[in-house]
Amino acid sequence: MKRFAIALMALVCCTGIVEAKEKQSSPNGDIKVEFDVVEGIPQYNITYKGKEVIKPSRLGIELVDDYSLTKNFKIKKARKSSFDETWAPVWGENSTIRNQYKELEVQLEQSNPDKPKREGLRYVTIRFRVYNDGVGFRYEFPEQDNLTYFTVKEEFTEFAMTGDHTAYWIPGDYDTQEYDYVVSRLSEIRSFFDNAYEYNISQTAFSKTGVQTSLQLKTDEGLYINIHEAALVDYSCMHLNLDDKNFVFRSWLTPDARGHKGYLQAPCTTPWRTVMVSDDARDILASNLILNLNEPCAYDDTSWIKPMKYVGIWWEMITGKSTWAYTDLPSVQIDKTDYSKAKPNGRHGANNENVKRYIDFAAEHGFDQVLVEGWNTGWEDWSGKSKDYVFDFVTPYPDFDIDMLNKYAHSKGVRLMMHHETSGSTRNYERHMDAAFELMKKHGYNSIKSGYVGNMLPRGEHHYGQWCNNHYLYAVTEAAKHHIMVNAHEAVRPTGLCRTYPNLIGNESARGTEHQAFTGSHPHHTTILPFTRLQGGPMDYTPGIFVMDISKINPENDSYCNTTICNQLALYVTMYSPLQMAADLPEHYEKYMDAFQFIKDVAVDWDESHYLAAEPGEYIVAARKAKGTDNWFVGGVTDENEREMEVEFDFLDKGIRYVATLYCDGKKADYATKPDSYDIKTGIITSKTRLNIDMARGGGFAISIRPATDADKKLKNLK
Ligand code: NOJ
Ligand code: CA
Repeated sequence: MKRFAIALMALVCCTGIVEAKEKQSSPNGDIKVEFDVVEGIPQYNITYKGKEVIKPSRLGIELVDDYSLTKNFKIKKARKSSFDETWAPVWGENSTIRNQYKELEVQLEQSNPDKPKREGLRYVTIRFRVYNDGVGFRYEFPEQDNLTYFTVKEEFTEFAMTGDHTAYWIPGDYDTQEYDYVVSRLSEIRSFFDNAYEYNISQTAFSKTGVQTSLQLKTDEGLYINIHEAALVDYSCMHLNLDDKNFVFRSWLTPDARGHKGYLQAPCTTPWRTVMVSDDARDILASNLILNLNEPCAYDDTSWIKPMKYVGIWWEMITGKSTWAYTDLPSVQIDKTDYSKAKPNGRHGANNENVKRYIDFAAEHGFDQVLVEGWNTGWEDWSGKSKDYVFDFVTPYPDFDIDMLNKYAHSKGVRLMMHHETSGSTRNYERHMDAAFELMKKHGYNSIKSGYVGNMLPRGEHHYGQWCNNHYLYAVTEAAKHHIMVNAHEAVRPTGLCRTYPNLIGNESARGTEHQAFTGSHPHHTTILPFTRLQGGPMDYTPGIFVMDISKINPENDSYCNTTICNQLALYVTMYSPLQMAADLPEHYEKYMDAFQFIKDVAVDWDESHYLAAEPGEYIVAARKAKGTDNWFVGGVTDENEREMEVEFDFLDKGIRYVATLYCDGKKADYATKPDSYDIKTGIITSKTRLNIDMARGGGFAISIRPATDADKKLKNLK
C-alpha cells in the first residue's frame, strides 16, 4: 500500500496535474453527477435515467485584479457521504420534509505559475448534493493563506444544454422580475429581445440572451429541467446568459455600482446552483430541493410566526380609484410634519372610516389581518424621492388614527398589517427601522408588507446585487428580533431562505395580480409561476379578483384581468403561500358571496400536498390537506385554452364519505367575455370518485372537501 502511494505521488510529480473523474448518484440511482478537471479546468455533467441533462460544463470564478479561480486546478481529495433526515417546517405544503441526498465533496488545489509555489497555492471545494429530483452544488472557499479577501468579476458556472429546448423565461434584468413569461425555443430568445418594446423588455437588459432564474425548460424527449439557486446569502443574484449557437447557459451575476459582482472573504461559500430534473412535470412542482439546500431554522422560538389570510386597502389604489397620498399638492408645498394647512384630495384610501369598513369586513368573514397602504406621510412625492420626502415609517396622515384603529381592530379579533414602502431608499429604511418596529409593537402589529419600488438608493446599486440582498435579509432578521413577519415586494427572488428565517412569510418578486390592473397578464401566467418563481418560496400573488373590468372601479382605467372567478379561486390552492390575500374590494365580494365562501374556507397551512396534473404553460391541478384537519382543498387552472380535466380523488382516505363543494366555470364562462359565470355543486365523493371538470379559457375550478356527517345523509353523489 505504502509503495503504491509513493508510486502515485511520483506520478503526480511527473505529470503535474492529475486528471480524475469523480462520480456520485442520487439515492435512487436515477441521477448521476460526474466531476473532472480537464487541463486544469473543473467541469461537471449530469444524467437522468441514463440520458444526458447537462453536458460537460465548466466551473470557475473570475476575480478582479487577481489570478482567477478558473484554471490550473487539480483534484486534491474527494469524499463521498450520504444524508437522510426528515424535518418539520414552521409552515409549508407538507408538515414534514425528507432531506435525502448523496454528497460528493471535491477539494481542488490551484497553482499560480506566476508565483513561487507556496505563495501561489489556493484551495476551492466544490460540493455536490445529489437528490432524487435534482442536484445542488456550490463553491466553498476554506480559510487559507493565499485567498483572503477577493472580488468577483464574474462567475463561470456553465449549464450546457443538450438541444434547442423549450424555455419558459423572463428577460435578465437587475431591477425587476415583474415580466410576463415567454414560452419559446432557446434559439428564439434573441428574437424577443430584438422586439424588446413589444415585449416590454427593459432597455437595461444586460444581453440579448439573458434570462432570470428559476428557469423552467422542457426537452423534446419530455424531460423537465429547472435551473435556479438556493440560499442566496451575501452574494449577488445569478442570471443566466445563453450562448444560443451551442445552447450553453453561463451564470451572470448582478453587478454593483462599480460593475463588481461580489466581495468575499474566506472562509465563505457561494449560494447553491440547482438543477432539477424529471420526466414528470408534477415532480418539479413537488420538489423540496431548494428548501433542503438551505440551513435549518435559525430561531429557537417560532410560536409567533403564523400563516394568515388578509384583506386590504390596496386594490382601490392599484386600480386608481383612491390614492396613497393625502393631498394632491407637490411635496414642496407641504410641511410634512404638519398637514393641518394642506388640502386633502378627498380620495385618500387609508382614512379612518374606510379602514373601519375593511376591519368590519375582515371580522365578519374571518380574515386575520387588514393591510393599510398609504397610512404614513411621504406619498406625495414618494417615487420622485425628493430629499425632504423620504418616508419615516412612523408619522401617520391626519386622517389615520393609528391608536384608535388598532384598538378597534383588536376589539374585533383582527390585526392591522403594517406597510413599509421604502421606495428603494434602503439606507433610509435601515436608519428608521428601530423606531418603525417600536411603533408597530406599541400598537400590536406583527407583520409588514414592505416594498422596494424604483431605483435603488444609494444610486447605482441594483435590486439583486450583493449589497441589496444583504439588506433584505437584514430587514428580515431585525424584524424577527421584534417577532415581526415580513412580506417584501420587489426584493430579490427567493431562494428558500424561508426555511432558515420563517418569518419571511412571503415575497412578491414576480409579476403579481397588480399587473392585471396595469396592462393585464397572459392567462398562462399562473400555470408557469409555480414552476419558476415559487420554487424559491411563497409569493404574495394577491389573488381573488372577482370583477375583471377595471373601468367598473375607475372609469379612467380600461385595464382588464385575464381570468375567470373560478380561476381566481383555484389560485389559493395552486399558488402555495402561507400568506394569502383576498385582493378585491369588499363590495365586489358582497355581489358574489356564494363564490367568496371558498376564499373564506380555504386553509393557508397544510399537512400534505399532491400535484395531480401539471404541464408548464398549460395547466396545474393541486390537492392539499389542511393542517390538523381531515379537510382537503383542490384547485385547477388552465391557460388561454379551455380544457376538460379528469380528477381522481385517490388521495382521500379509503372507505370514508366526504362532502365536496365544487366551484367550476359556467357553460358560457370565458376569461375575455364572461369571467363571472360559475356553477357551485355540492355532493358526496369518496377515494374512488372520478370527476370530469370543464375549465373555460383562462378558467379553473376549486373544490372544498370535508368528511360527511349524519346531517349529510340525503346528499347525492357529486357528478
Ligand atoms: C408595488 C407593490 O407591488 C404594490 O403591492 C404596492 O401597493 C406598491 N408598490 C406601493 O407600495
Ligand atoms: Ca410590485
